[in-house]
Amino acid sequence: MHGLSFFYIKLMGDESRLVKSPDLATEMDAKKSPEASILSLNNIEVIYNRVVLVLKGVSLNVPQGGIVALLGANGAGKTTTLKAISNLVQAERGEVTKGTIEFDGARVEKLTPNELVRRGCVQVMEGRHCFGHLTIEENLLTGAFTRRDGRAAIKADMEAIYGYFPRLQERRLALAGYTSGGEQQMCALGRAMMARPRMILLDEPSMGLAPRIVEEIFEIVRVLNAREGVSFLIAEQNTNMALKYASHGYILETGRVVMDGAAQALRENEDVQEYYLGFGGERRKSFRTLKSYKRRKRWLA
Ligand SMILES: Nc1ncnc2c1ncn2[C@@H]1O[C@H](COP(=O)(O)OP(=O)(O)O)[C@@H](O)[C@H]1O
Ligand SMILES: [Mg+2]
Repeated sequence: MHGLSFFYIKLMGDESRLVKSPDLATEMDAKKSPEASILSLNNIEVIYNRVVLVLKGVSLNVPQGGIVALLGANGAGKTTTLKAISNLVQAERGEVTKGTIEFDGARVEKLTPNELVRRGCVQVMEGRHCFGHLTIEENLLTGAFTRRDGRAAIKADMEAIYGYFPRLQERRLALAGYTSGGEQQMCALGRAMMARPRMILLDEPSMGLAPRIVEEIFEIVRVLNAREGVSFLIAEQNTNMALKYASHGYILETGRVVMDGAAQALRENEDVQEYYLGFGGERRKSFRTLKSYKRRKRWLA
């Protein structure tokens, strides 16, 4: 199992950061063969309260060590997709009624959220959800609840996380409820890292944050991905930012994937530009009804 380890190199400007050891890098590169997925959803259907069909056959793939964006407007089904994977839909009277979900080569639809965390898949919820009455440091510690490797290892990882998030170190004794939105998002992400995940499901990290802070958070995601080998599935309405950092994107509309492709192909796609990157002015019909979408879908597939 890889983890946070302790080799200092130059990273993010001039400051030294903690990163994984070179031998782990080799191990991770071996896992990065193009066909290997860490997560695959095949034709997932989710129904809430036994009647409301919200996901209507969603399929997607996250390669080992990849960053994948799950895009779409408010209500498209992004959160539901992430919760279907982490099995948190059950807590909202939701149910995966069709399809399969594989994480790290095994079917996981029947696992509890805790079991999934133990296997290395952690969700960072929309809206951050830090414990406001606990300090930043206490919040980070709550992320280690599934671990059995003792205090010293947990303490060492916390120091490593402070290396990635210097702002959290500065604010470690502040009550999370009194920190800024950006700091809370970092706290939620740092807490997820405390479980030593292999994959993080990150739900709308940009929500309510200033562009500069959003960029800072995505930069940290990039570094965690590169240095710790954590794979990411990121739900975002901020298409522009997400496609800058992801290698691949899926666009959801009313519970269906209407387009997917390499991030660059999506960024250059006229319909994506018009409907999701805001270049199109007033006309914002349904994406799926566009003729040009139907034409282009083929070459993106
Ligand atoms: N617990 C729930 N019960 C019933 N419907 C829900 C529930 N959660 C979400 N929905 C509905 O599912 C659809 C998708 O929501 P969601 O997955 O939150 O979308 P997104 O994250 O893309 O904004 C919306 O129409 C929403 O109203
Ligand atoms: Mg959502």
